[in-house]
Amino acid sequence: MKVGFYGHVRQYHNLKKEIDANIQAVLESGEYVMGPMLKRFEGELAKYAGTKHAIGVGNGTDALWLTFMALGIGPGDECITHTNTFFATAEAVWITGATCVFVDCDPRTKCIDPSKIEAAITPRTKAIIPVHLYGQCADMPAIRKIADKHHLLIVEDNAQAFGASGKGFKIGQLSDAACISFIIQKNLGAFGDGGAIITNRDDIDRQVRKLRNHGSEKRSCHSPGFNSRLDDLHAGILSAKLKAIDAGNDVRRQLAARYTAGLRNARHFTLPYAIPGYRHIYHLYVIETKKAGDRDILIKFLQDNGIDAKCHYPIAIHQQAGYPWGKGARIVGPMTNAEWNAATCVSLPMYPELTAEEADYVVAKVLEWDARA
Ligand SMILES: Cc1ncc(COP(=O)(O)O)c(C=O)c1O
Repeated sequence: MKVGFYGHVRQYHNLKKEIDANIQAVLESGEYVMGPMLKRFEGELAKYAGTKHAIGVGNGTDALWLTFMALGIGPGDECITHTNTFFATAEAVWITGATCVFVDCDPRTKCIDPSKIEAAITPRTKAIIPVHLYGQCADMPAIRKIADKHHLLIVEDNAQAFGASGKGFKIGQLSDAACISFIIQKNLGAFGDGGAIITNRDDIDRQVRKLRNHGSEKRSCHSPGFNSRLDDLHAGILSAKLKAIDAGNDVRRQLAARYTAGLRNARHFTLPYAIPGYRHIYHLYVIETKKAGDRDILIKFLQDNGIDAKCHYPIAIHQQAGYPWGKGARIVGPMTNAEWNAATCVSLPMYPELTAEEADYVVAKVLEWDARA
C-alpha cells in the first residue's frame, strides 16, 4: 500500500463543485485583485474566527511581518518566541529589523513554555509570539497574564492551527492579532500561497490594509507600503473550503484518536499530547522517538514501506546556519526541549481524506518497527 503525506487532490475532488463554482464566479466577474470575492471571504473569515476584522494578504509570513509593522515593531525592539517552529516565525521578526529572543518550548505541548518567558523580558521587549504548533493552541491564558503584567503585545502565529481553540476562547481573541497561513498544506489551504490576519483592533486592521496595498487607502495616494494581497481567486477557493473546515478538523481528530489508540503500547516513541479541554486540530500528528538516532531510521523504514513520513522540523531555528542573524538575537535558558523535538520528531500522514485502512496500515508498520527496534 502507498500512503501519501497530503490529500490535496482528494480534497479537491470532494469539494470540486463548490470550488469550481467560486473560481468560475471570480473569472466571470472580471475583478481579480481586491475584488468582491476577497471582501466576501474576509467577512466569512472574521465571522468564523469571532474577531472584528480579517484581512487577506499574500502569505502567512507577510501576515506576521505586516502585523509587526502595523504595531510599530522594528529596530531596537525584541520579540520573544521559541525555536521549534517553521523558520518563517523568526524570519518575519528579522524582516522588520527587530530582534528575536528565544525561550524553550513546553516538553508536552511543543508550544512556547509560558514559565520561561519572564526571564527573557528586557526593557526592549515589545511582543510575545506564541506559535500554535502542529494544531495545538498554546497556553494563551498564561501568556496573556504575562503580557498584561509587562505591557507587551501578543501576535499569535496561527499558521498551523486553523480551527483550533482553547478552553472558552478562540485563537485571535486573547491577543492583539493572529496570523494565518493558507499555503496548500495547511488545514485551510489555497492552491498556492495565501495568508490573513484576524484581529479585534481597528488600528491594526486599518494599518495592515494600508500596508498591504502600497500604503494606499485612497486611489493614487500613497505612503510607503508593500504589495501583499490575497487574490480573489484564492479567496474564492478558501471560501469554498472554509465551509468544510470544521468537518475536516473533526476527521483529523478522529484519525488522531485512531493512531493514538493503535500506538499507545509502543515502547520506542512518545505520542502527541493534547491540552485537556482544548480543541487540537492535528495539522500534524507528530510522534517523538525515545532515542535521537531512531528518527531517521523510522522515517526510512516507513518510506521503504510506502508511507510518506516526514519531519517537522529537524533543525531548530537557533541551530540554523548563520544564527544569530540580526542584532542581538539570543537564546535565554537551555533549549533542551526544542532540541529534543528537532532530533526525534516524526510526522505521520494526517489529513481528512486519509482512509481508516490507510491509517491502520500506518499503525501496523510503525508497530512493526517498534517491535524490532
Ligand atoms: C509556524 C509557521 N509560521 C509561519 C509560516 C509561514 O507561512 P507561509 O508559508 O504562508 O508564508 C508557516 C508555514 O508555512 C508556519 O508553519
